[in-house]
Amino acid sequence: MKVVIQDDAAQVAAYCADLIVRRIVARPAMVLGLATGATPLALYRELVAACRAGRVSFREVSTFNLDEYWGLPAVHPQSYRHFMDRHLFDHIDIDPVNTAVPRGDAANAAQACADYEAAIARKGGIDLQLLGIGRNGHIGFNEPFSSLRSRTRIKTLSRSTIADNARFFAAGEFQPHLAITMGIGTILESRTALLVATGAAKAAAIRAMVEGPVTASCPASALQLHERAVVVIDEAAASALTDVEFFKHIERENRRLENPGPGTPPH
Ligand code: GLP
Repeated sequence: MKVVIQDDAAQVAAYCADLIVRRIVARPAMVLGLATGATPLALYRELVAACRAGRVSFREVSTFNLDEYWGLPAVHPQSYRHFMDRHLFDHIDIDPVNTAVPRGDAANAAQACADYEAAIARKGGIDLQLLGIGRNGHIGFNEPFSSLRSRTRIKTLSRSTIADNARFFAAGEFQPHLAITMGIGTILESRTALLVATGAAKAAAIRAMVEGPVTASCPASALQLHERAVVVIDEAAASALTDVEFFKHIERENRRLENPGPGTPPH
């Protein structure tokens, strides 16, 4: 797991946007996995700015979102489809046909889950999957004790996740307790996993993910088994790691390897 520690949330967003832009420029028809939540918003603003400035085009890009509330139609203001349209898709040159978010109102749940997996496979798999992390270590809506090889399915949300997300719903408004989410197995098949986290509220989950055992108690810890997992966090989210300096040292060495200056001895 590559852990990149940035000074603050703005730098985290800039680092990740730069990484994604470079990937799209290198492979314009890439398949991008996307996430919702407050954390990626600054990153999405950076991607919109890059697109408007002509530094990147999403014309050939396809996207797959991680999850959706089960029971909300796409047009619902709290649906993740609505969130993605409002914060990203409406402001970039992507073809809406190529933006997939699981259907929260499908008549047949099992079929909707199987169809989502098949759609990812038809596109050749996900090149880069963006992830946030819940305070309880969830990724997508894979709550603690999710099977580490799970596929897209309907999940019951934990009480802490429902409480964390209640801020987005008006008092008395229906708040789903179920979600349709890519499984951990689905996420592990992405070619690169890029997890972003900012703020002290995520510090314990980050520590469990990076330093803890691989365990269904912390679904994000499954990323230790991913071939190319990149974790980009700010100082606050890194604050519970045992040896922050070690990760910073590795990053400096990585940069030296990527950009060896004149006279840099080979490693
Ligand atoms: C939701 C999403 C997750 C996201 C998490 C954290 O539960 N399903 O994909 O990572 O929220 O959100 P935030 O970034 O707002 O802390």
